[in-house]
Amino acid sequence: MKNIFIPILLVLCTTISCTPTDEQCVNEPLAKNDSVSDSHSYSNHSEIRTTHIHLDLDVNFEEKIIYGVARHQMSSSTVSKAIFDMKGLDIQKITLGKNNELETDYTIGKTDPIKGSPLTVNINPGTEYINIYYQTTKETEALDWLSPELTAGKKHPYLYTQGQAILTRSWIPIQDTPMNRITYSADVKVPTELIALMSADNPKEKDSEGRYHFEMKQAIPAYLIALVVGDMEYTSIGKYSGVYSEPELSKQCSYEFVDLPKMINVAEDIYGEYRWDQFDLVILPYSFPFGGMENPRLTFANPTLIAGDRSLISVIAHELAHSWSGNLVTNATWNDFWLNEGFTVYFENRIMEKMYGKEIAEINAVIEYQDLLTSIETIKQSEHPEDSQLKLQLKHRNPDDGMTDIAYVKGAFFLRTLERIVGRTKFDEFLKNYFDSHAFETITTESFVQYLNTELLTPNNIDFNANEWIYHAGIPENCIQIHSKRLTEMEAWASEINGGNAVFTNEYKNIKRADRVTQEWQAFVRKLSPELPTEVLNEIDSKLKLSEEANPAIKSDWFILNVNAGNKTIRPFMEAYLIKIGRRWYIESIYQALVDSKLKGDKEFAIATFEKAKRGYHFVSKSTIEEVLK
Ligand code: BES
Ligand code: ZN
Repeated sequence: MKNIFIPILLVLCTTISCTPTDEQCVNEPLAKNDSVSDSHSYSNHSEIRTTHIHLDLDVNFEEKIIYGVARHQMSSSTVSKAIFDMKGLDIQKITLGKNNELETDYTIGKTDPIKGSPLTVNINPGTEYINIYYQTTKETEALDWLSPELTAGKKHPYLYTQGQAILTRSWIPIQDTPMNRITYSADVKVPTELIALMSADNPKEKDSEGRYHFEMKQAIPAYLIALVVGDMEYTSIGKYSGVYSEPELSKQCSYEFVDLPKMINVAEDIYGEYRWDQFDLVILPYSFPFGGMENPRLTFANPTLIAGDRSLISVIAHELAHSWSGNLVTNATWNDFWLNEGFTVYFENRIMEKMYGKEIAEINAVIEYQDLLTSIETIKQSEHPEDSQLKLQLKHRNPDDGMTDIAYVKGAFFLRTLERIVGRTKFDEFLKNYFDSHAFETITTESFVQYLNTELLTPNNIDFNANEWIYHAGIPENCIQIHSKRLTEMEAWASEINGGNAVFTNEYKNIKRADRVTQEWQAFVRKLSPELPTEVLNEIDSKLKLSEEANPAIKSDWFILNVNAGNKTIRPFMEAYLIKIGRRWYIESIYQALVDSKLKGDKEFAIATFEKAKRGYHFVSKSTIEEVLK
């Protein structure tokens, strides 16, 4: 029945701007964020909100504790309570006022395993300053305290934070919702042999007293506040960009990321001015759970990106793209996460196309599409088959559940399909205006749909099934298909091997790994059959050195194939890989393959390896793998 009514509902619901599948489909437009609530935050930010926060932080490596004061400057209001989010923090006291601070009462509500607790502070009408004195605890999920052996230099400890999605509240008591944007400043004290960096203006050199001051003058959501402390130096690459890394890695970084300045120019050519003045990277240790994290002015990057051949640079294009989609125009709630990531994957691919040509961009898109098909199948079988809608329903769930290929790849294909229908010139103009007109704002899916209708679809008389894409599971039929000749060739080679042909005949006789890009090897490996005999897999491995020397993206796919094929030869390499690398998407699928394996001992191997590896994983990866192994 739903299907019969889709066309009518589509028309209705695009104009009244709400979800056709939602029972709350009433005539109230959700264009203003005031009428939207973020189920992942306890804060009463629509009544009283932080406009600026100043952090006084003392980073103590011996105790693995940050001693902090969060000085909130509030909007004017007449309410008697301000509610903040917190999780795993010890609150010492709370005061009101700027120069003359007076203690006030507060309560900490019941702890929810995902959201933490509401911290309710008694205030007076007109209270402008609320100062929360606190310290972090062992339960602090955002912080990764690393002992020296987990760093490149192995001499100094290291600390970094991961705020997205709702972990900032575990190191700062704050209104932790993307719906509120704030400016921030900080005074941070660290051991003198280390440097502190934030998602703000940053020092180029160490301070002899270990004291650093930071300012972030552009308003950002709480999840983008970030801190990293370690033995690092700065390598400038161009006027407005460079890389912070442990000194051991500086040389490799200046080679790998040489294209940064050009990349910024290319991005600006597409969607207008870069608004954050500086675009630096910091290379984190291997435990970092993501490929990259778009902390403004200071993208956090995984050391696995230093592939030695610039082949994983698309991750940097991705994080740079977030300077528009995500950081400038931000998803209002985590249900709207695709507005951050889908737009970013689309923009990332446009940057790649302009930098390295259409062929490379297509290769990337095809591999992404393969990932999407796999994810859709997994989601279909899962507890939440509705998760393949772009608009998510994550109430009472961990917003991390939304970090799937749906937001990323289905989101990007939504935009690619639209681009194909509208034409690139018109579409670019539309997106540029979207970023400009919503700069430094947050936006819901519903407001976006409204904007899409009034600015693009209606004026151009275009019929587009936006609501099917956004509110229905799966991939709509009009999704464009992208092909890549180069990937097809690699797949054809794999098919021949699957069919029983010798591996390295004729044209492949002299092939070396460096002759093909990462994604071509991924396509090849993914097409190889798990039915192949162990000897064939080992022959491929001994010639191409996939287990030993390939970059992590290829290794991940290779290890999964070998687990599925029951080939134990690769185990020592796989074990070393799982112990070294903490990047969630890379390791999660290997652990999953081991758990799903029918081969005796695979699950036990996964559990034993995790035991050895987990001290090198951030909370985010650790909890995901624990879930997989359950
Ligand atoms: N913002 C994300 C990382 C993230 C998402 C952290 C949700 C926590 C919650 C980042 O921009 C990202 O997408 N990283 C990807 C890069 C890839 C898609 C190029 C990653 O880590 O793999
Ligand atoms: Zn992203």
